[in-house]
Amino acid sequence: MSVKFAQFSDQSIPVDVVSKKNLPPYLEAASDETRNWLKANAFTAKLGQTVLIPGKDGAPARVAAGWGDAKSRIRGRLHMGTVATALPEGEYYLASGLEGEELEEAALAWLLSAYVFNRYKEKSAAKARLAAPDTLNAKRLETLVAGDFLTRDLINTPASDMGPEALEQAFYNLGKAHGAECTAIHAEALLEQNFPMIHAVGRASDQAPRLLDMRWGKLDAPKVTLVGKGVCFDTGGLNIKPGASMGLMKKDMGGAATVMGLAHMIMSLELPIRLRVLVPAVENSISANAFRPQDVLTSRKGLTVEINNTDAEGRLVLADALAYGDEESPDLLICNATLTGAARVALGPDVPPFFTDDDALAAEVAQAAKQCSDPLWRMPFWDPYEATLEPDIADLDNAPTGGFAGSITAALFLRRFVENAQSFVHLDLYGWTPVAKSARSKGGACQSARAILQVIEQRFPK
Ligand code: BES
Ligand code: MN
Ligand code: ZN
Repeated sequence: MSVKFAQFSDQSIPVDVVSKKNLPPYLEAASDETRNWLKANAFTAKLGQTVLIPGKDGAPARVAAGWGDAKSRIRGRLHMGTVATALPEGEYYLASGLEGEELEEAALAWLLSAYVFNRYKEKSAAKARLAAPDTLNAKRLETLVAGDFLTRDLINTPASDMGPEALEQAFYNLGKAHGAECTAIHAEALLEQNFPMIHAVGRASDQAPRLLDMRWGKLDAPKVTLVGKGVCFDTGGLNIKPGASMGLMKKDMGGAATVMGLAHMIMSLELPIRLRVLVPAVENSISANAFRPQDVLTSRKGLTVEINNTDAEGRLVLADALAYGDEESPDLLICNATLTGAARVALGPDVPPFFTDDDALAAEVAQAAKQCSDPLWRMPFWDPYEATLEPDIADLDNAPTGGFAGSITAALFLRRFVENAQSFVHLDLYGWTPVAKSARSKGGACQSARAILQVIEQRFPK
């Protein structure tokens, strides 16, 4: 689905955003009727509190929206979504109380709160539409929201309709919409063209494993390559997941969905880069030909990998895709993946960790994350843990024993496959909102795309 700003008209209803601090002057300046009405409705300017103020004819004429105090109102939490979803059908505009980055965040939150996933059942979309504040770049905000919604739709669609074939179709549709070139390497061709680990992980599924490849932009522009984990369902393989852990694994293509949402933003905004998107699309299934614990795989890069847990499959498919992307020495190589449960244990569902050795890039990512209401937090590529990746009989172990620092050891595993890229950043996403929050529906979540977009815009200005 998609959403756009409404057209401003004389029907548009003004929304006054009122902080606790500004409540007294706001009441003072208001008419007696409005003051009495707000009092009767116990308007205290509590964050998210929404009161419709009727006009002479009884129809809504204004809205007072509570904006709380500095303590409750945390930048980046997209609080305005609460107001947008509380309002009845109509067209509104943000008339007072917000400016600059706060206004931008509020408009973004309003649009993001309109998301519904209605592929399988009728669900009414949000009814309160917002006219674009004229100090903002409306087109850009709509593009960010379209990318976010694409990611949510892809994640929310279950594996029965979003297996490797359907993901490939969605990938092609995206490429086609922007005039990008798309190719795919399937099944046995993965072995012929040396992607052994993508093949090994995906070969037990009815839908063949594949590597999706998209290129867009001017040939001589700086090269930015996005790699996204596209495990369309993760049973765990022969090391099968218990039911509760398997319950959410349709979202294990969240990295792929995120890089596709981000690619949509990059191409719509026509950023001056040479974009490449690589998605290993597989299902980690169980069958007689499934890969097994203690198998040793030889990766594209030549490093041998002992499989000590078939549930640590993401790093395997990503390793071959990263090695491939790295071969053309991109200026920036970005990996997005729902890679470890350990990242959730460390930081919870809302704050994905990112890993990079480029301190300047880390600062840019952290700053952009804050500014874009897209929280991310740096974790270290902790070199001393490298030793835990090295088993007896192969170069690498895909599931180090002990299980400490699982998100770091997974990141270190991936780093072994990258050596030519100028800068490399890996993000370990959750890709899911467990409990609906303002502007964030329950279900698939688009994490990191806005922040990474901003980093790319700043690194490679027009
Ligand atoms: N897709 C999972 C990671 C995951 C689990 C992400 C739950 C978000 C929520 C991944 O393939 C996996 O199973 N990782 C294992 C690795 C372990 C076997 C070394 C994990 O994190 O438990
Ligand atoms: Mn797994
Ligand atoms: Zn997985």
